[in-house]
Amino acid sequence: MSSRPFGLAVAILIGAVAVVLGYITLQRPLGPAAGPDEIFCYGSVRTHDDDLPSAECFSVRDGLFSSVSAEGPNEKRRRDGHVIPGLWDGHGHLVMYGEFLHSVDLFGSRSFGEVRERLARYLAENPGAGTSDAWVRGVGWDQMALGRMPTADDLEVDDNLRGKFIMFDRVDVHCTWVSQAVLDLLPKDMPDIPGGEIIREPGMGVFCDNAMDVIMGIFPAVTKEKTQEFVRTAMRSLNEVGIVGMHNAGMFPEGLEMLGEMAEQEDLTVRVYSMVECPDRNTFCPDKVRKVDRPDGRFTVRSVKLFADGALGSWGSAMIEPYSDRPDMSGSLLVNSSTLTQLTRSWSAAGFQVNIHAIGDLANRYAIDAMESALRDLCPGEDPAACQARHRFRIEHAQIIHPEDQARMRAMGIIPSIQPTHATSDMKYAEDRLGPERTSAEAYRMQSVLDLGPVLGSDFPVEPADPFQGIFAAVTRRSPHSGFGAGGGPDGWHVEEALSLDEALRGFTTGVAYGGFMEGRAGVIREGAFADWVVLDKPLEDTDIDDLRNMKVRETYELVVVCG
Ligand SMILES: *[C@@H]1O[C@H](CO)[C@@H](O)[C@H](O)[C@H]1NC(C)=O
Ligand SMILES: [Zn+2]
Repeated sequence: MSSRPFGLAVAILIGAVAVVLGYITLQRPLGPAAGPDEIFCYGSVRTHDDDLPSAECFSVRDGLFSSVSAEGPNEKRRRDGHVIPGLWDGHGHLVMYGEFLHSVDLFGSRSFGEVRERLARYLAENPGAGTSDAWVRGVGWDQMALGRMPTADDLEVDDNLRGKFIMFDRVDVHCTWVSQAVLDLLPKDMPDIPGGEIIREPGMGVFCDNAMDVIMGIFPAVTKEKTQEFVRTAMRSLNEVGIVGMHNAGMFPEGLEMLGEMAEQEDLTVRVYSMVECPDRNTFCPDKVRKVDRPDGRFTVRSVKLFADGALGSWGSAMIEPYSDRPDMSGSLLVNSSTLTQLTRSWSAAGFQVNIHAIGDLANRYAIDAMESALRDLCPGEDPAACQARHRFRIEHAQIIHPEDQARMRAMGIIPSIQPTHATSDMKYAEDRLGPERTSAEAYRMQSVLDLGPVLGSDFPVEPADPFQGIFAAVTRRSPHSGFGAGGGPDGWHVEEALSLDEALRGFTTGVAYGGFMEGRAGVIREGAFADWVVLDKPLEDTDIDDLRNMKVRETYELVVVCG
């Protein structure tokens, strides 16, 4: 890992406008910029601009590409490597990712012994962690891998862990597992929570969906300084894998203020498009937030995140028909359909893009109903598709969608925001939950919704942030972690839904740009676009698909321009 990924190269004052050129270069910090226009030439440049799909040189000025040309100079003046546009993650959690990088990594843990071992290692490196005002955080456990639901006792059995304040999120962050010290802060007889579940068997310790609020209610506040440290750590890590921008899938007003300040202070090395999340989930709180639409795209607030349901792993996704492996259950909605519709109408009338988290086919249906109703409100008598092109409602995850609702999405142009690695992480149990028919017709669509211009992302820290792993998953429908398909075989899972390499790369560049109203400005190398790019050793199309799993980017460039 590079220790100094961000170097301020030079600051130029032009009248009242302070222009700071900051090159983020990972392996090789760059020298001072020569002048207002700097020319870069490479072995090849993939532009995503239909007028000039491949080039050799471009110039940059004031943080934007000022020209792109097909003609390169002689070999000598060319820089090493091959360029693609800077990558964007269409759905991630910035602060949680930073927190994750500062916490116990439980991904892939296969026994309680292993969980305790990883925790012990963390405590050795972070002595004194786990007090009542600084809990140990972790994420990545999975009851399927552990053999059963965890309990507080599973931590308490270890002498070195007893009495520590610990909070571990499940792999999908829809449940959290806490230690006895945390449980002791709660009333003895916890009542059930609507829209959530307190797991009581084989013992207390796990809280899911809305019941997680009980734990968040007693979680000690993280200081602003610490949160900013999380953001910086997260951004450094994102720059290292070629990410120049991200859509932050839900942030409270306080966090938005903090990011806004960081943007003003030139402290963001990733462009952030942040969705608003109200302190009370699924409410209307526009008076608590300030819209932000900076010309440099460094920080944007003009969208809201609503939540329709929970996760498939915990049978929490709201389904039209019961689960195939739990015929007594069909998941639960976090909000009823009339409230979801009302919220979508109110937020969009207030000028916000509405992005609804929906996983199960019932949740997706209600999300589409809500959007359809809002589009009718917003543009009376107009074709909903034309209206949607201006409002760009999105469904976050859009995992299981009834064929009739897929058709409705297509008719209206509702944008699916998809995480290809969710498909390959869930493939081991999705077919059990859904049965073969629903899996084939409804689940984890990518190719069938390609016309809708999917926004692709990772949902980091739920999945690794590396976009090349997402591209690998989209192209092969195999796990980037193991390289294998469902059941550990060499075949991809439902490859009829796979994307081509180009389609997948578009999803992580132009797709995200459109989903954030930045088409022509992000994910593309052309005059006037943000001067962000990624340098690879080889042209992407000459790279063996299996090498994408462990792809290393040479450099990530992001030109920071701050107008003051
Ligand atoms: C939906 O939920 C809201 C808020 O909880 C409640 O006021 C309303 O009565 C519910 N509507 C229906 C149709 O159940
Ligand atoms: Zn998410």
